[in-house]
Amino acid sequence: MVGTGYVGLVSGACLADFGNKVICVDIDAERIGRIREGIMPIYEPGLKELVRRNFEAGRLEFTTDLQAAVRASQVIFSAVGTPMGDDGAADLSAVRQVAKDVADNMDEYKIFVQKSTVPVGTSEAVGRIISENLTREIPFDLVSNPEFLREGSAIEDFMRPNRVVIGVESDRAREIMREIYRPLCLLETPIVFTSIRTAELVKYASNAFLAVKISFINEISDLCEKIGADVGEVARAMGLDKRIGPKFLHAGVGYGGSCLPKDVSAILHTATGVGARLGLIQAASDVNEYRIDALMEKLKAEIPELGGKTIAILGLSFKPNTDDLRHAPSLKFIDRLSDEGATVHAYDPISMDNARKEYGEGIVYFDDSYGAMDGADALVIMTEWNEFRQLDLERIRESLKAPIVVDCRNIYKPAVMKAMGFRYHSFGRPDNANG
Ligand SMILES: NC(=O)c1ccc[n+]([C@@H]2O[C@H](COP(=O)([O-])OP(=O)(O)OC[C@H]3O[C@@H](n4cnc5c(N)ncnc54)[C@H](O)[C@@H]3O)[C@@H](O)[C@H]2O)c1
Repeated sequence: MVGTGYVGLVSGACLADFGNKVICVDIDAERIGRIREGIMPIYEPGLKELVRRNFEAGRLEFTTDLQAAVRASQVIFSAVGTPMGDDGAADLSAVRQVAKDVADNMDEYKIFVQKSTVPVGTSEAVGRIISENLTREIPFDLVSNPEFLREGSAIEDFMRPNRVVIGVESDRAREIMREIYRPLCLLETPIVFTSIRTAELVKYASNAFLAVKISFINEISDLCEKIGADVGEVARAMGLDKRIGPKFLHAGVGYGGSCLPKDVSAILHTATGVGARLGLIQAASDVNEYRIDALMEKLKAEIPELGGKTIAILGLSFKPNTDDLRHAPSLKFIDRLSDEGATVHAYDPISMDNARKEYGEGIVYFDDSYGAMDGADALVIMTEWNEFRQLDLERIRESLKAPIVVDCRNIYKPAVMKAMGFRYHSFGRPDNANG
């Protein structure tokens, strides 16, 4: 498993738990050293224990020695990052580097499995890089095996996925991949075999669809605010229709995280390159861009001039149960507040260290929710961590300078908040909503 980040570490540990022998490789020696000491580089429920169990059983190793790992392995997964490049396309430099490094160290038949999210055609390009860098002719097969795990429930998602997608065009590689995922077949997980190009597109199409769903409900939420309907009830009633489903219908500040923004951007870039029009996906992206404006409008309705004010933010990660800040809506919001001259007081249960790396002393960090809101001019809840769901409302009212709360996750009941004297704003719900 080349690349020991979110996907590489979780996939490596889970594949080891299936009984495979897995070697996780990374160029980051510090990361590898810390994992060997039992210190996880990411926060993911259950990961530490899973890694420890398989490490102690001798099924899971961590190394920076790519050569030894390649030589010892029949199947090489690549799970390095494919972040958004400056032009909006996926930055494939790490993917290309891994292909070259693997080719340099190949000694016999290998299967090269692309687990990173990569644009259609990347596996073919990787195949060319491998062929060009082999010192002699060595047979190899390419596989596209995109990953669908969600941060915060990554292990459960890997162990019990809705489906496994395998793009493969050789019988030999298909049988080996089937064998690797056999424990999931026993759970009756659908294994969808496709061509390599199709598998590459499945991942982008899936994430783009989720982005469309979120932007869709956000537009309905804006409409609800204008006409006095309740987006929570609309979403629930819509979601009970099995053709629609209840997931990804939560109105708020829009999607963020390490995948949706970059994958939407990358598929749009791909489409432009081949002259295809993806109007719906473009619209989803545009709608998402304006979600922070929607938040700013709510805040400014209460505090028109933010310069010199203090805004308390609860929750920085893009969703609960992860410390990942990549493309989190909170980052855009903090930037906007800073531009307007406001001071930010922040608290997040897990991602404070990552926030310090991002902002240094640019924001003020607190050890708990009430510390962050003490003396602030307004409170904004950005992430629905469990510990923010049952806050002491009287204490919030006493702690804040003015009882202004903007709830980006619709956690609290508007009617209750109003009755307690809060100037409370959520997304797409009337003031008297009680759900
Ligand atoms: N994070 C998620 O929830 C998620 C879910 C599904 C798919 N994906 C996709 O999986 C891929 C990896 O994402 P991630 O979030 O795990 O990234 P990450 O940034 O957490 O991890 C990438 C790792 O690769 C290592 N690396 C970089 N270049 C290397 C090289 N040449 N050799 C060895 N190691 C190298 C880095 O040091 C890092 O540890 C991306 O394409 C992403 O889109 C991510």
